Amino acid sequence: MPFSALFLAALSLLPPIHASPSPPVPEPIQVVELPLPPVISSRAEGACTATINRRRTGCIHQVFDEFQAGDFTPDGNHVIVNIEFVGAPAAPDPASIYSGEQVILIKADGKTFPNGDTWKCLSCGVPASNAQSLDPERDYPHVARNGKQALWGHNILDCGEAPLASSQCTPNKTHIYPIHWPISVDGSGSGGIPREMRLHPDDIHMGWSSFTANGGQHTYFGRLQFNPNPTTGLPLAPRYDLVDVDILIQPNGASPIMANGTELHLHDNAIAAGELRGFSGAGDEILYIGSPREANNIDVFAVHIITGAVRRLTSHPEYIDPIAFSHDNNWFVGMDTRGSNRQMWMAGMRYIPPLIDLVTVTAASSTRNNGVRRFFQPILIDRYGDRGDYFGQRVNAAGDGSNGSINDPNWNGRADPAFSPDSSRIVYWQALVVSPACGGTNPLPCPVSNAPGGRTYRVMLARLTKRRPQQPAPIFKVPGRIPWATPFPPGASIPTQYSLPAGNYSLYGKVHGVAHTSITSDPTYGGLQTVSVEYENYSDENGYSINGTESVTLTRTPSQPWLSKLEWYSDLYETGVVTATKKTGPGGFNLTIDAQANIFEADGTLTTTIDGIVYKQPANGT
Ligand SMILES: *[C@@H]1O[C@H](CO)[C@@H](O)[C@H](O)[C@H]1NC(C)=O
Ligand SMILES: *[C@@H]1O[C@H](CO)[C@@H](O)[C@H](O)[C@H]1NC(C)=O
Ligand SMILES: *[C@@H]1O[C@H](CO)[C@@H](O)[C@H](O)[C@H]1NC(C)=O
Ligand SMILES: *[C@@H]1O[C@H](CO)[C@@H](O)[C@H](O)[C@H]1NC(C)=O
Ligand SMILES: *[C@@H]1O[C@H](CO)[C@@H](O)[C@H](O)[C@H]1NC(C)=O
Ligand SMILES: *[C@@H]1O[C@H](CO)[C@@H](O)[C@H](O)[C@H]1NC(C)=O
Ligand SMILES: *[C@@H]1O[C@H](CO)[C@@H](O)[C@H](O)[C@H]1NC(C)=O
Repeated sequence: MPFSALFLAALSLLPPIHASPSPPVPEPIQVVELPLPPVISSRAEGACTATINRRRTGCIHQVFDEFQAGDFTPDGNHVIVNIEFVGAPAAPDPASIYSGEQVILIKADGKTFPNGDTWKCLSCGVPASNAQSLDPERDYPHVARNGKQALWGHNILDCGEAPLASSQCTPNKTHIYPIHWPISVDGSGSGGIPREMRLHPDDIHMGWSSFTANGGQHTYFGRLQFNPNPTTGLPLAPRYDLVDVDILIQPNGASPIMANGTELHLHDNAIAAGELRGFSGAGDEILYIGSPREANNIDVFAVHIITGAVRRLTSHPEYIDPIAFSHDNNWFVGMDTRGSNRQMWMAGMRYIPPLIDLVTVTAASSTRNNGVRRFFQPILIDRYGDRGDYFGQRVNAAGDGSNGSINDPNWNGRADPAFSPDSSRIVYWQALVVSPACGGTNPLPCPVSNAPGGRTYRVMLARLTKRRPQQPAPIFKVPGRIPWATPFPPGASIPTQYSLPAGNYSLYGKVHGVAHTSITSDPTYGGLQTVSVEYENYSDENGYSINGTESVTLTRTPSQPWLSKLEWYSDLYETGVVTATKKTGPGGFNLTIDAQANIFEADGTLTTTIDGIVYKQPANGT
């Protein structure tokens, strides 16, 4: 199709962006736990005995090392799961293949596989010749829409013409191929280091993120091309290459905050992808965690693959991260801290422009976790996203909150949730808080798991009981290249992006008022150091006016690019629809947090109060 025809066809599929219908009313949701293999508390060879599993098809440990649930097979009856089998006997015992990190399907329909198990291993016992040079990264398992392939970390597993869930899909028919991202000019070497790969609904294209050496991250989009006999680049084994790669940066595109003379301008049309999160149900939009639109508030955005039009999907002050769209393209489910009040002390005051975020964004993305403990729960939101006082519906709200109940706050959501192909069910998984995020000096005692076998992880199925099965939306035809992105062929370097110069600026509110902003750069290491703002009757939203001052200084440690050390002073007042304050205590608030460890450590206080409700920071180490 010529480009213009494709463009028009694409546009005709798009609902009008500005006409968001009135929000849906909450609907009934029923949540059950899905079965997993039997659990043992020992990893010793042979600990998975015939007494524990009489069919000798594997055992898992109480504590998860490598566990992730993914999405459904096309029949909606199975869910893909990455699991670590433990306690297998030594070879040549036939049960020895149920060992180590493997990818399995679990039953989601209450039935069993022909052998009587509620699971089936896809990767166990695959002949070595069919699985050469597997990539050790096996996260974010995902079933291709065709049902015959799976993304398993940085590998593609396939069963030829046999659906993965069928009994025709046997180990001997299974192949597992590593994914290679050539980045050197001649294609040599082990390639780029992608992370968090997400397969497009067309099963051909891929999105991913990749860290930079200095604490940054970029997002990419490319096409999978099978390379049966590579002559360059590692591994030299049958593999999938990522080709026609674009980096999701718009050449000369707008940045979220730009200077023009002595004025700052906010650009809501900027495509500012921090981490790629996947695709819409039709695949017409790429989902990402983006540059904040409001201070300390981390949200997900969608950008159209052809037009580059950006939609802000969430605006709740709390933190959202994993997200999955329904295949009918009308809903998404996000893993979000909303309801936990984890982030309200820093983000609860609405409509503060994202100025201090120039130095605080990494810290604000880190305080959401306490080490491995997350505070996520699954939230169902319609495709138009948060708006007005609509902030979606918690999927697992029903329950009495008791230990092990579906809304037990000690069971926290993990990545990724998924919709069934008929859009009527959601699967997600959770982990129970474990030491050191509880117990010891932590005021939270460690709960005893009452999941089967004392497991500290569980897979949950939510039925949207009032919904009828829906047809998936037609899959969007991805053009050869993303028109607004930057080609990133082997040998390319990351394009230089706009950086806001240090200086003194005025940012005029969209409604009224001004924010006098002073920005300095780090004299030793470069990058921005201090952002100080004085708000004068500032308003970006009718009914919300802000006065007061806020100043944050970031101290960099070049050897630890993920470490934020912040010296923070806030004295903000908001009036109108709400009466709110955001204030630091005497001596300010000094926060140290590493984005890869997520342990909260602060001196002093930062407190947000909204209509008399006081939101305080977490205690150190909690
Ligand atoms: C798989 O193939 C091997 C030879 O490659 C053969 O020995 C084995 O019997 C086959 N297994 C099954 C279950 O067909
Ligand atoms: C900067 O502001 C001037 C004067 O308002 C305007 O003419 C110009 O287009 C602006 N430049 C940019 C890049 O926005
Ligand atoms: C429930 O969990 C808490 C820890 O959050 C623990 O103190 C308590 O003993 C548990 N109650 C039961 C009945 O297991
Ligand atoms: C910004 O203003 C402060 C005083 O408010 C002044 O000390 C500083 O030099 C100014 N910075 C620039 C880059 O003009
Ligand atoms: C502050 O904004 C309000 C509108 O919300 C306006 O009525 C008032 O005059 C402004 N005050 C000043 C000092 O600009
Ligand atoms: C902000 O200050 C202006 C006067 O400059 C005043 O009219 C307004 O009520 C104040 N608003 C808040 C939220 O303090
Ligand atoms: C935060 O650090 C600054 C600079 O070291 C110090 O002056 C201030 O007292 C500290 N505040 C608190 C609450 O510890």
